[in-house]
Amino acid sequence: MGKITIAIDGYSSTGKSTIANQLAKALDYVYVDTGAMYRAVTLFAMREGFIGGENDNLNGLVDVLPKVDLKFVYNKSLGYSEMYLNGENVEKEIRTLPVSQQVSKIATIEKVRLKLVGMQQEMGKKKGVVMDGRDIGTVVFPDAEFKIFMTASPETRAFRRYKELLDKGEKVSYDEVLKNVQTRDYIDSHREFSPLRKADDAIEFDNSDMGLKEQLERIYNFALRKI
Ligand code: C5P
Repeated sequence: MGKITIAIDGYSSTGKSTIANQLAKALDYVYVDTGAMYRAVTLFAMREGFIGGENDNLNGLVDVLPKVDLKFVYNKSLGYSEMYLNGENVEKEIRTLPVSQQVSKIATIEKVRLKLVGMQQEMGKKKGVVMDGRDIGTVVFPDAEFKIFMTASPETRAFRRYKELLDKGEKVSYDEVLKNVQTRDYIDSHREFSPLRKADDAIEFDNSDMGLKEQLERIYNFALRKI
């Protein structure tokens, strides 16, 4: 069976990564969570004081970008890859609300996008990859054989993310999570460089009222028709 490229884009907290990871497992493909890459650069920028303080210094971040080393390392017992920033496992830290509140700003920077898109194209060049993000079907792999655009209402997405963060022990309110989801949607779809939009040839998939099992079954069957 030939291998294809699968691009899963969509709004934040639509459950893209869970579906993408499980789809990759079912097909024996590699899964790449591109959001983790933008989150890791954001964590770096926060730690180095380029963002999150009184004044942002985005040019300063661009100057030191070559020093930001990102790697995915597969964790066998967890069954997914974890993000390493300059050799340190930052998987937990990049998922916290403070990072979510800054990441969309970092993702507007053209030089950051160019660096990460280049890495993503390299990771997917042999096909057999499921990649999720915001610009995979439009910019990273415009020729991907199978593209999905995931949506769900902001309230549904915020509630899912809120529960997830509570389960991880973070003290957050539903309202601040909803605000973060809405702000990220806005910034992601209005930025100058590769804004979030549905590729013309992507299938729109609204999962507001759908459980994980049903989503996976449907998407897996769609994928099989393209392989
Ligand atoms: O997918 P996730 O919600 O983890 O992504 C975090 C943020 O990273 C998004 O809100 C968006 O600003 C940015 N991002 C992006 N392009 C991608 C993946 C993520 O701009 N391909």
